[in-house]
Amino acid sequence: ELPQAFSLPLPIPPVLAPVESGAGGDRYEMVQREVEAEILPGYATRLWTYEGSFPGPTIEARRGRPVTVLHRNELTVPTVVHLHGGRTPAASDGYPTDLVLPQGWTGHHAHSMPDDRAVVTDVQREYGFPLDQRAAMLWYHDHRMDFTGPAIWRGLAGLHFVRDEVEDALDLPRSDRELPLMIADRAFDAEGQLAYPSLDPTLTGEHGVEEPFLAGVMGDVVLVNGAPWPIHEVDTGLYRLRILNASNARHYELEAVAEDGRTVPLVQIGSDQGLLAAPVRHERLPLAPAERYDVLIDFAGLPVGSTVRLANRLGSGGTAEVMAFRIAREGASAPIPETLADDLPEWDRSEAAVVRDLAFRAGRMEDGRHGWVVDGLPFDPARTDVTARFGEVEVWRLIADVHHPVHLHLVGFRVLSRGGRTPLPHDAGLKDTVSLRPGEAVEIITRFDGYRGRFLFHCHNAEHEDMGMMANLEIV
Ligand code: C2O
Ligand code: CU
Repeated sequence: ELPQAFSLPLPIPPVLAPVESGAGGDRYEMVQREVEAEILPGYATRLWTYEGSFPGPTIEARRGRPVTVLHRNELTVPTVVHLHGGRTPAASDGYPTDLVLPQGWTGHHAHSMPDDRAVVTDVQREYGFPLDQRAAMLWYHDHRMDFTGPAIWRGLAGLHFVRDEVEDALDLPRSDRELPLMIADRAFDAEGQLAYPSLDPTLTGEHGVEEPFLAGVMGDVVLVNGAPWPIHEVDTGLYRLRILNASNARHYELEAVAEDGRTVPLVQIGSDQGLLAAPVRHERLPLAPAERYDVLIDFAGLPVGSTVRLANRLGSGGTAEVMAFRIAREGASAPIPETLADDLPEWDRSEAAVVRDLAFRAGRMEDGRHGWVVDGLPFDPARTDVTARFGEVEVWRLIADVHHPVHLHLVGFRVLSRGGRTPLPHDAGLKDTVSLRPGEAVEIITRFDGYRGRFLFHCHNAEHEDMGMMANLEIV
């Protein structure tokens, strides 16, 4: 039995304390383990977690102050940790075959390894994040080859903030006026366990999902920070929402609706990779898997005791609702800054050393089964798909058959054009994931710098990713 919408409080994921802090940065430890937690009232749901919580604990970091995280795997399968949006050297970027093996693991990966360099025989692994990057809300999640979708579905995802002086200077809403919102849909079986149509539920053998779910796995329950359709008490002031779509495949179009039917604007101040140059007002905000939006919402003028719903205009029934805010008291409003950050990289098409076309389409996996491919080929860790020269600017023209949210590791990019036209308002700022709509070509521009080595780009529909739609990017 599903809970009534807007009856449970919004949980805020715990902030993880470093085990050590020094001049060289902060050091954290996380244990990946299975726990039972109450998501649906009255049911104990088995979850795979970082540190026992879903979402995992939040890491709070400062730009340029290195973070190391020692991950220990107490689950039953290998795992891989990737910091999504992190400017991270290849060795710590969570390449899909750089496994953290569980205790006593004797099995092999479903696919044979191209070589053994990636296999770590220990139950723990230390990831190093220099975090020399703009303030932004990043997120960390599992990234094991072929099994990312079910691992995230079971709970392996958490938030990671980077803060900097540019952001501090703006005096934006903070502490309990800044709300992280990890939105993720899930399906449950009659026993209250997470339901996911894996071909092999042990996640050790055949990868992929049952045929009807090839397009992606969606659920009928919308969770925010792990709670179904929660409600949160606010005052009549200004709030900052740090929104992540952590769903495997579901797209949302968010609209905040007051009781009188009025739309409360969502004022976007940031994108995946941090602050915009100036705010962008939205009545409806589209949200593809893995995208983040930094949004201000002003509850000024709304009657105390009333409710503002965050609705999903792409959903129906339960998936048409996300969460709600109850206006509990009067509060002091604050102005929305007119200008934000002036440190956004601007790249011009004329600077591009290379222009590439990359097609994201349905195709066949290595074993001939239906899946998803980039430029006709399914993911192969042994093949280099794109070689980019360090420091060079490139334009990529991404072409889609159906919806594909495309993500690049290591670098942020700007959206240059969408469907041959100027980008949409929500494409503003520095992105690391861009939503390709059916039949559309989207041009992005970036400079490949930071680190050399092997990185990835892929579709962030987690099922597409697991069924071939990923490719290697070598920066030389
Ligand atoms: Cu959020 Cu390669 O992933
Ligand atoms: Cu896709």
